[in-house]
Amino acid sequence: MENQTEAKKVMFSGIQPSGNLHIGSYLGAMKNWVALSEQYDCYYCIVDEHSITVRQNPADLRRRSVLQLAQYIACGLDPQKNTLFIQSHVHEHAELGWILNCYTMFGELSRMTQFKDKSAKNAENINGGLFTYPTLMAADILLYGAHYVPVGADQKQHVELTRDIAIRFNNLYGDTFIVPEPYIPKVGARIMCLSNPTSKMSKSDPAGCVFLMDSPDEISRKFKRAITDSDTEHCVRYAPEEKPGVANLMSIYSSVTGKTYEEIEKEFDGKGYGAFKPAVGDAVIETLRPIREETERLLADKAYLKEIYTEGAQRAQYVARKTLRKVAKRIGFVEKPF
Ligand code: TRP
Repeated sequence: MENQTEAKKVMFSGIQPSGNLHIGSYLGAMKNWVALSEQYDCYYCIVDEHSITVRQNPADLRRRSVLQLAQYIACGLDPQKNTLFIQSHVHEHAELGWILNCYTMFGELSRMTQFKDKSAKNAENINGGLFTYPTLMAADILLYGAHYVPVGADQKQHVELTRDIAIRFNNLYGDTFIVPEPYIPKVGARIMCLSNPTSKMSKSDPAGCVFLMDSPDEISRKFKRAITDSDTEHCVRYAPEEKPGVANLMSIYSSVTGKTYEEIEKEFDGKGYGAFKPAVGDAVIETLRPIREETERLLADKAYLKEIYTEGAQRAQYVARKTLRKVAKRIGFVEKPF
C-alpha cells in the first residue's frame, strides 16, 4: 500500500480564493481534478497568498477560503484521497518562494503576460508581490515534486517558467527538483462569458457568470439572457468562429450532460434558441444543485472543515519541509537547529 502510494505521480494545482467560484472554474478545472484523484497523488491548494497580490477585504478573503474548501469537497474531491489545504498554513511556500526569487531573472518576470495584464488593471497597486507571483507559484509546485500541473492555457507560461527555474537550480546544485509539466486537459471546457462570449467567464461580469452558489432562479435568468448570435438562422450548430455564443452554450451543455455536439445539434434540430437556452439552464441547475446543497451542509459544520484543512496542512507540510531542507542544504544555509 505504502509503495503503491509512493509510485503514484504527483499533481499540484490551486485556485485563488479571490472571488466566488463559477462554472468556468468547475467545468474547466475542478471537475477534471476529481477524475485525477485515483491515478495521481493530488494536492489541491487554496492559494490565499497569491490572492493578496491584489487588495482583498480581509473578512471576505477568510470567508471565501473556507467556502472554497467546502466547494472542493462538494465537487467530489475526497479529502482522504487528496491533500486539500490552505497555502498560508504551510510557511514553506513563502520561504521557498523567497529562495526561488533569487534564481529568477527580472527579465523573465517582466515577460509574464499575466503580470502585464494585472498591472494594467491595478495601475494604482503594482506591488512587488504581483511581480514575483510566478516564483511563489513555482514554489507551490516544486515543494511537492509535482510531475503535472493541471492548469488552464492562461497559466501555461507560469508552469514553463517553473520548469526553467527548476532546471536552472538543478544545473547549479545537482538534481533537486522534479521538472513539472503543464497538464492541459484535451477536452477541458473553456467556458466563456454568457453576455460576451469572446472573453473568458469571469466574476468581473456577474451577469455573464454563473456562480456555483447561484440559486436556480438566478441560473435560469442568466441562461435565458445569454447572447447567442445575431443571424436569423436560429439554429443550434457548432461554429465557434461564426457563432461563439451558441458554441459556448453547447460546450457547457456538453460538459454537464456528456452529450456530443452532434447529439446536441440533433436534439435541438428545428427547435431554435428559445428551447435551447432554457434547456442548458436546466441542465446546469441540476448539475449544481447537489454541489450547492453539499457546500451549504459542509459550511454549517465549521469544525469538520477545520479538521480537513488542519490535516491537509499537516500532510502537505511533511512533504514541503523535506524539500525545503534539501534546498537549504544545497544553497549553503546552516542546518535548522529545531
Ligand atoms: N496562478 C494560478 C491562477 O491564477 C493559481 C495558482 C497558484 C496555481 N499556484 C498554483 C495553479 C500552482 C497551479 C499550480 O489560476
